[in-house]
Amino acid sequence: MTPPRRPPAVLMVCLGNICRSPLAEAALRRAAAAAGLEVEVDSAGTGDWHVGAPPDPRAQAVARANGVDISGLRGRQVEAADFERFDHVLALDHANLAALERLRPPGSRARLALLLDHVPGRAGEAVADPYFGTEAGFAVTWAEVTAAAEALVAALRAR
Ligand code: 4NP
Repeated sequence: MTPPRRPPAVLMVCLGNICRSPLAEAALRRAAAAAGLEVEVDSAGTGDWHVGAPPDPRAQAVARANGVDISGLRGRQVEAADFERFDHVLALDHANLAALERLRPPGSRARLALLLDHVPGRAGEAVADPYFGTEAGFAVTWAEVTAAAEALVAALRAR
């Protein structure tokens, strides 16, 4: 008998872990639940400024408006062990992808990509950082991470 496969584990990574990656985590949790797919999801930042901090109030608001409570999430910094713990490490933009490539231990099993690589027609693109902008930017972020989450769920179901 083959042992049961554990659910796929996905880590979303941005710079601060208070805007984009918590929203990507929330969107994937929601899309997976809607599809009945079991998945382990977490998020982290390449920077350490917001370790222990809750998501930006504007990120909490857009998630809440879409039915997801992210107020309990706390920022953490990505670490080398994440490349063993997760099957997929997904960067929200190119600078974070480059930082992850430097941090990744040689031979680690995680697959590293941009989050939008999973969205047809958007491979190679970044999710823009809404931190220094207005609330409208967070709605754009939510739309982008939701499209990616739905594409990811379809890809993970097909495994
Ligand atoms: P995030 O946004 O990477 O999407 O969480 C940012 C959060 C904080 C900062 C930059 C981007 N910061 O410079 O503190």
